[in-house]
Amino acid sequence: MTTYDHYTISDYDLAVEALRARTSVQPLVGLILGSGLGTLAESIEKADYIPYNEVPRFPQSQVLGHRNRFVAGTLEGVSVLAMQGRIHYYEGFSMQAVTFPVRVMQRMGVKVLIVTNAAGGLNPSFAAGDLMLITDHINLPGMAGNHPLIGHNDDALGERFPDMSAAYDPQLCAVARSTAQAKGITLHEGVYMGLSGPSFETPAEVRMLQRLGADAVGMSTVGEVTVARHGGMRVLGFSGITNMLVAGETHGQEVSHADVLAMGRDKIAPALAALVRGVLASLRG
Ligand code: HPA
Repeated sequence: MTTYDHYTISDYDLAVEALRARTSVQPLVGLILGSGLGTLAESIEKADYIPYNEVPRFPQSQVLGHRNRFVAGTLEGVSVLAMQGRIHYYEGFSMQAVTFPVRVMQRMGVKVLIVTNAAGGLNPSFAAGDLMLITDHINLPGMAGNHPLIGHNDDALGERFPDMSAAYDPQLCAVARSTAQAKGITLHEGVYMGLSGPSFETPAEVRMLQRLGADAVGMSTVGEVTVARHGGMRVLGFSGITNMLVAGETHGQEVSHADVLAMGRDKIAPALAALVRGVLASLRG
């Protein structure tokens, strides 16, 4: 199934208008918090909460473990607009719908997007519970024709053929590395493979993904990052490795959404929160 939606700037701006009616925050940084990683939004100060179902045109996500609301406020002295829960392709939304929130952020004036996700580890040097700085990605659905920028290009939003040679901002990556070091957080680095989901990978698929050069795999992020780059945002991304994927036997290596959520919440979210706070503090300038 490949579906396309066509949104215009007036669709995005209807959503922006609704947000502006609920918050006076002028966000510099957008935060997308993945499965089990939404707790950081609870510590946003002077917070305004705007449920997605109160935002016109907004796709309505139902995934367990997501609060499905915007949280606008201040974190480490920086104005932020956080998404507690994201829209997933596997819910049946088009890639244009999946990336609708990024356009809303763009029209709200967000300049830096920090994305987080829960991911399966493909690099054998990783372990469940680890964090990975995303230095690059492979947009497999996009390469196969399911790309959020297919369709009419509005030059007011971005250029027809956006450059993706440094999608994950090298300067922000450097800040993340030094923050991790200063806080004693182990931070792996690698390539994130975005797939549609919702099934987890077979052992043969795991082997294939490893050979394609991926270090972690998940069901989100690549569309959002592509649209953010199209819109001129600087991007920083982190994967929380909730489980390791094994290329050989399946025996004893089952993956479940409940395990993904629990690992995200208990082990990864606290380290990720410290890391994101450190990066934000450095953006305060
Ligand atoms: N595969 C795909 N997506 C995921 C995984 C996985 O193993 N773990 C968390 N998200």
